[in-house]
Amino acid sequence: MIIAIDGPAGVGKSTVAKLLAARLGYLYLDTGALYRAVAWKALQSGIRPTDREQVTTLLPTTSIHMQFQHGAMQVLVDGLDVTGDLRTPEVTTAASIVSAFPAVREWLLPIQRQIGQRGSVVAEGRDIGTKVFPSAPFKFFLDADATVRVARRHRELVAAGRGVTAETTSRDLSDRDQRDRTRSVDPLVPAGDARFIDTSALSPDQVVAQMIAAVSTGS
Ligand code: DC
Repeated sequence: MIIAIDGPAGVGKSTVAKLLAARLGYLYLDTGALYRAVAWKALQSGIRPTDREQVTTLLPTTSIHMQFQHGAMQVLVDGLDVTGDLRTPEVTTAASIVSAFPAVREWLLPIQRQIGQRGSVVAEGRDIGTKVFPSAPFKFFLDADATVRVARRHRELVAAGRGVTAETTSRDLSDRDQRDRTRSVDPLVPAGDARFIDTSALSPDQVVAQMIAAVSTGS
């Protein structure tokens, strides 16, 4: 049983997906962390994230594993736990850039599907319902007003101690949106059979309640 949650940055996907997974006793799979891990490796190797050829060359000699313990997820790159290094602004931008490369997407696909085989997974990303798990029985696509998404992301960054302005946050988010929605492979689009939820005026608990209602009634 897989529950797919897709949507743009700042829409509250991670919060909601984590809550939903905890309530149902499912595994929470944050697929963005895998793209971030590839970006981290590129930066660590001195490769510019925009250099498609070099990033692609890196893949065969890279290993990425996810470990799940007590509901938390760790990401190992070449055996090293890099979980704490994946949410810096540099990695965030680089992840958005490398995620547009078809070779990167192709390479990460079996890793995601293998985790899905464990069953009982809430998977969150951009192409979960369209590409990674197209036959997931429950698919949700979350969206929210751009101003709400910027405000949420800005609050998160400030809470994490990052001194960014609302303007910078807004520009980064819209650049990322543009890249995620317009890339040629697996762009961010709702699956035809996804249930759409506008989270602009909803709390995470309210979104999760809608999801649980949908899952328990099988609709
Ligand atoms: O969800 P996130 O912000 O951690 O994702 C980081 C980047 O990875 C995001 O800019 C788009 C990309 N991504 C993707 O292309 N497909 C996914 N399933 C998940 C993330």
